[in-house]
Amino acid sequence: MKATVCVALCVVLLAGTVRGDDRCPAEDDPQVPPVLLPHPSDCDKFLQCSHGHAVVNKCPPGLHWNDSLKWCDFPEQAHCEPGVTQTTPLAAEPSPNCPGVYDPDHMVYVPHEQDCGRYYICDPYGVELEQTCPSGLHWNPLVNYCDFPELAQCEEQ
Ligand SMILES: *[C@@H]1O[C@H](CO)[C@@H](O)[C@H](O)[C@H]1NC(C)=O
Repeated sequence: MKATVCVALCVVLLAGTVRGDDRCPAEDDPQVPPVLLPHPSDCDKFLQCSHGHAVVNKCPPGLHWNDSLKWCDFPEQAHCEPGVTQTTPLAAEPSPNCPGVYDPDHMVYVPHEQDCGRYYICDPYGVELEQTCPSGLHWNPLVNYCDFPELAQCEEQ
């Protein structure tokens, strides 16, 4: 058991810039569904815990997150109030890569240091939230989306 904890912690420490969220369990339990949390500012997004980190997920177009029911629902039923459901800010340090002022209309994306298939979104607290591209795609910082590897021209390190 101790060894497992160390492995989990060491991976987190080594990863360095990957931010944890203390509302997420350190380890995923395959027996239970993942922990889902409200997004700090956007009603059409929610956070999913993955190995102790909060990963941003999007609701299907037109739907809003209902944190009581833990699913995406029609906005008039979801009663989502951005920022209000957020009780504890993410337990992470703001990143120097993120702007000091959050502008939801101009999201800031940060390429991952090692993994071409990953990138970060700056959250309203200036914290980098790790994202994963759909399988086979690479983050393209020129256009700010997951792209075909030959277009993204990312060099795996
Ligand atoms: C979630 O859905 C239920 C049932 O439709 C509703 O009563 C509630 O106000 C919704 N929103 C929140 C944040 O609980």
